[in-house]
Amino acid sequence: MPIIYVTRQIPENGLAMLREKGFTLDVSDKDGVLSKEELLGALAAKPYDGVLCLLTDTINGETFDAVPTAKIFANYAVGFNNIDVPEAKKRGIAITNTPGALTNTVAEHTMALILAIATRISEGDRMMRAGKYEGWGPMMLLGTDLAGKTLGVLGAGRIGSRLAHHAKAGFDMDVIYYDVKRNEEFEKETGARFCATVEEVLKDADVVSIHVPLLDSTKHLINAERLAMMKPTAYLVNTSRGPVIDEAALVDALKRNVIKGAALDVYEFEPKTAAGLTELDNVVLTPHTASATDKAREEMASLAAANLIAFFEGNTPPNIVG
Ligand code: GLV
Ligand code: GLV
Repeated sequence: MPIIYVTRQIPENGLAMLREKGFTLDVSDKDGVLSKEELLGALAAKPYDGVLCLLTDTINGETFDAVPTAKIFANYAVGFNNIDVPEAKKRGIAITNTPGALTNTVAEHTMALILAIATRISEGDRMMRAGKYEGWGPMMLLGTDLAGKTLGVLGAGRIGSRLAHHAKAGFDMDVIYYDVKRNEEFEKETGARFCATVEEVLKDADVVSIHVPLLDSTKHLINAERLAMMKPTAYLVNTSRGPVIDEAALVDALKRNVIKGAALDVYEFEPKTAAGLTELDNVVLTPHTASATDKAREEMASLAAANLIAFFEGNTPPNIVG
């Protein structure tokens, strides 16, 4: 039966599925991300048949060399930019991810970020905690209504589509979007207007929300030049991957009021943030927790397990990537 290395404790339901099938699991007992040396050392310890890894693990040729017996790396995440997929392909190693499991959860968190930045909830919360609230004021902490405003979605995949649904159905926002491919189903459901370029979305949207995978072509998709194309009243929201935004350029734009605000769940150099970011009032920041609900994390665990089980039963895993 397969022996699997699990790089960090994940919800037990996924591990139980694997144990029930007779898999042997070695779960890292470090309550934290394994350093490169720790990961390579752990993988080299036994002839593992597969690895269940996280988005915080860098998986590349060196990793594959450390455990040449492993034929599958099941990523516990929808994003898989932490894995060198072409290198895996070259070596005939299967890579899987966990799409679907967290779609609604991330869309809800994104909507929460949009509401928080537009209604200035975090600023109000900070004011209360600081004991600075001195009574109701007609001009105090004025925010922005969403109804009738335009949401610009960059990347109309599962999460972008679900967000557009929430924005349209729940908040009467108009939706425009850019994607490398046009998505007619998305247009039908949300009345969204397709924009042929990212620039068109940036010029017309009151809220821009990013839902693209991190690829060479999407790194710094939002840079100083593109920030300058946004409306000065617009908000930028990112729950995808940090490097999609040039974070230093964003801090600069926020300081100079090039745009009104930003709400971020992911950072270019996680867990670090760009100099000055956390001192700004016109940002809402969460620590990469957009998929952090019991339900989403349990479904991610069962999907990762299902991918491993299918693979070792000789079937194509449901979520093979690359
Ligand atoms: C979270 O960031 C994921 O990709 O699942
Ligand atoms: C990820 O699940 C996406 O397609 O947005």
